[in-house]
Amino acid sequence: MLLHIPQVLSPDEVATLRERLDAGAWVDGRATVGAQGAQVKHNRQLDEASPLAQELARAVSAAVLRQPRFVSAALPRHLLPPFFNRYTSGQQYGEHVDGAIRFLPGSGQPMRTDLSATLFLAEPDAYDGGDLVVCDTYGEHAVKLPAGDLVLYPSTSLHRVEPVTRGERVAAFMWLQSMVRDDGQRSQLYELDQAIQALRARVGDCAELVTLTGVYHNLLRRWAEV
Ligand code: NI
Repeated sequence: MLLHIPQVLSPDEVATLRERLDAGAWVDGRATVGAQGAQVKHNRQLDEASPLAQELARAVSAAVLRQPRFVSAALPRHLLPPFFNRYTSGQQYGEHVDGAIRFLPGSGQPMRTDLSATLFLAEPDAYDGGDLVVCDTYGEHAVKLPAGDLVLYPSTSLHRVEPVTRGERVAAFMWLQSMVRDDGQRSQLYELDQAIQALRARVGDCAELVTLTGVYHNLLRRWAEV
């Protein structure tokens, strides 16, 4: 499932974040990938060890986790602190699949990358190219969103960032491990949760909604790893 979550950050929040990001220390993006990724990744990344990167990563994580639809769709168990990347003219990230395991900073605890998310931090008219292209069984999906909007997609998919041909594409990028490993089960829980909330808004609480809410939680209890 590909999910678009609008306005994770307001325009003012994006502007403040960009001001601080743009003044940061940027390094070669190949520092954080394996051998296959290093051949196709051409961008720059905010130095993840810098206090600035850590502070901004905390702020973006908090904003993302405040989004009810993100939590409902991702059911996060571990969220890796976001990375920040920028592609200037001529840069791209060729087709690749993300590594299955990352390590949480601090504890070094391994986590499985079930879901990836990109939070766009440049307006689409500020650059040409730079679409995130996610490939699944339905074909290729090109994603280019307004600044402050996020796309959530399965880490299992092949994906790429098209070459930027003008301007600068700036984004935050993150991985998470979900409490529900299986993409199909997670999608069904999301659809059920969204339908329950829409029904509650339309008809108010009723006995049937209590039953459906029970079904949701019992499926989650059956499928979740905590
Ligand atoms: Ni990737």
